[in-house]
Amino acid sequence: MTDTLLSVRGLTIGVQRRRSLQPIVRDVSFDVRKREAVGIVGESGSGKTLTMLSVMGLLPTPPLRVGGGEIRFADRDLTQMRERDLRRVRGAELSMIYQDPMTSLNPLMRVGEQIEEVMTAHGVPKDDARVRTREALAHVGIPDPDRTARAFPHQFSGGMRQRVMIAAALVLDPQLLIADEPTTALDVTIQQQILALVRSLQREHGMAIVWITHDLGVVARLVERVIVMYAGRVVEDAPTRRLFRRPEHPYTAGLLASLPDPSDRSRGPLAQIPGTPPDPTDVPTGCPFRTRCRQAVERCALEMPPLTDRGKGARAACWVPPEEWVS
Ligand SMILES: Nc1ncnc2c1ncn2[C@@H]1O[C@H](COP(=O)(O)OP(=O)(O)OP(=O)(O)O)[C@@H](O)[C@H]1O
Ligand code: SF4
Ligand SMILES: [Mg+2]
Repeated sequence: MTDTLLSVRGLTIGVQRRRSLQPIVRDVSFDVRKREAVGIVGESGSGKTLTMLSVMGLLPTPPLRVGGGEIRFADRDLTQMRERDLRRVRGAELSMIYQDPMTSLNPLMRVGEQIEEVMTAHGVPKDDARVRTREALAHVGIPDPDRTARAFPHQFSGGMRQRVMIAAALVLDPQLLIADEPTTALDVTIQQQILALVRSLQREHGMAIVWITHDLGVVARLVERVIVMYAGRVVEDAPTRRLFRRPEHPYTAGLLASLPDPSDRSRGPLAQIPGTPPDPTDVPTGCPFRTRCRQAVERCALEMPPLTDRGKGARAACWVPPEEWVS
């Protein structure tokens, strides 16, 4: 038995245009071990959500489609699985909290029924499901679960809706939870409460988690490993402490430089990575980061750097090693 829970290899996702597939996510490979907490970080549009939606088998097809690659979860290839079998895995073994809870909660259904439905769809008898729903709501810190179960999603605040989503995602005790920016729409205090809640539930349930975020600062305290995406590719993948101490990709170095330093009281302006990421369907030749990169050399315009091993569990895709970077 290996320790690997999720293994993504050479994943390509694209938009179907007439007969050809226009790639958006290209050749993405990474692993998540059992009980591991991993972060996927990158600017808006870098392909974080699409990558994890395809793991869930929930890519909006058409116009999007998986063009190639393998997604193995608990030793099965999900890309080859029939929808009926995939449905059995989804929700029970593999679960996702979405960016906007209103898109995944049905506005016309009481929240209790929605959580019960997750269970009855997986064969839990209705009476059991009702009891377990009340327990699940109490477990995520919702007061008066009986009354809450009878309410509709619009009757809750954003933070409470996220708690309902978390209850629904965890009710069948999945092995992997994918949390897609579950707090961006919330104010800072509620954000902190939700992050702390998910982290403690993750530890308690012994599940693996993938946090998707554009904020490296938020995820740093929550994960053991960070995967950095840029323009639809993985550009760095490293243990969190290693990544903070010695980034191997200039884009990661730029993300780190733009984080506020907690020990710095002067609050000077933060460094920003100049420029904007390329349109994922129209990436320049060579390295996709080269138009914004201070370290670029001639070779960067000609060839795409492959993701290579950098030691101590790190991988990065860059032609120029950190010791040769100009400051
Ligand atoms: N249904 C769609 N049809 C065509 N293109 C799409 C579709 N959904 C997403 N895309 C494109 O795919 C790219 C990657 O999208 P994705 O949602 O994965 O980004 P993301 O990294 O999650 O960004 P964000 O941080 O804003 O959530 C984006 O540039 C987006 O325009
Ligand atoms: S390959 Fe070149 S352009 Fe790309 S990140 Fe490295 S130095 Fe910059
Ligand atoms: Mg997203």
